[in-house]
Amino acid sequence: MKDEQCVRFLQWALPQLRMRWDGFRKVRRQVRKRLTRRLRELGLADTEAYRDYLHRHAEEWHYLDTLCRITISRFYRDKGVYAALSEQVLPTLARAAQQRRDKALRVWSAGCGSGEEPYTTAILWHLELRARYPDLRIEIVATDADPAMLARAREANYAFASVKDLPPGLRDQAFEQAHGACRLKPAYRCDITFLVRDIRNEQAEGPFDLVLCRNLVFTYFDDALQSELLGRIVATMRGSAALVLGIHEELPADTRGLYPWFGKLRIYRLHESASHPDMMRS
Ligand SMILES: C[S@@+](CC[C@H](N)C(=O)[O-])C[C@H]1O[C@@H](n2cnc3c(N)ncnc32)[C@H](O)[C@@H]1O
Repeated sequence: MKDEQCVRFLQWALPQLRMRWDGFRKVRRQVRKRLTRRLRELGLADTEAYRDYLHRHAEEWHYLDTLCRITISRFYRDKGVYAALSEQVLPTLARAAQQRRDKALRVWSAGCGSGEEPYTTAILWHLELRARYPDLRIEIVATDADPAMLARAREANYAFASVKDLPPGLRDQAFEQAHGACRLKPAYRCDITFLVRDIRNEQAEGPFDLVLCRNLVFTYFDDALQSELLGRIVATMRGSAALVLGIHEELPADTRGLYPWFGKLRIYRLHESASHPDMMRS
């Protein structure tokens, strides 16, 4: 399939899925490959024929939706973000949890891919923070719409390319070599619950002290859906919890109740009085 054909098709189809073309501009290769395969499976000549097919088979829209999931991720993605999490954000949230006499710091990784993001958080907690907060454990809920991604997450075997950004000291302690792959040791896997959840329909069960929602809602979904989901995400947060977006993402223009904590890193914090979805809309 020619790139321009793919672009024209996506510009037509994505708004109907409540997604936005801008988010796919740089990563459309992954979708183009899948579309090419789908057209071949259906015996269709081109995207015009696929449009016709979509008109005649409403259920195909669900399948197309799954073809539009971008799955790129890696451990310690955007190192400044994880440095801030380790040095400032998690310690501040841990102290607040201790003051409340909570036993667990609760984290939600929304759109967790094959585990890179929640596992990075667990590695930081165990290797850099846990000793300072002996009475506090970490509980991470990691959700994704794609069961295949979660199956890979549970296996926790990665190519070196996925873990290469981790500081070597952390990488060497957290992984063992197994059959040419990097296998995450059990100690860094046990605090995470992986769940299949389409964030458009169902959020993880809060309350959370930290929500990582990176490179999903605020990249691929349209403006109205972003605002709607932000309200539902905030409703899962407690106290002065933190929300982390992808480094190139922006909060919707009508956002209220969150303020930048580390603005350039897209780390926001909840005003204590704002943990209700209505507070998010102007
Ligand atoms: C680009 S990856 C981001 C992974 C990780 N958060 C990061 O920033 O590295 C996006 C993930 O969101 C998942 N995803 C796509 N649509 C989703 C939806 N509607 N609900 C939940 N997860 C979704 C994809 O399967 C994929 O694993």
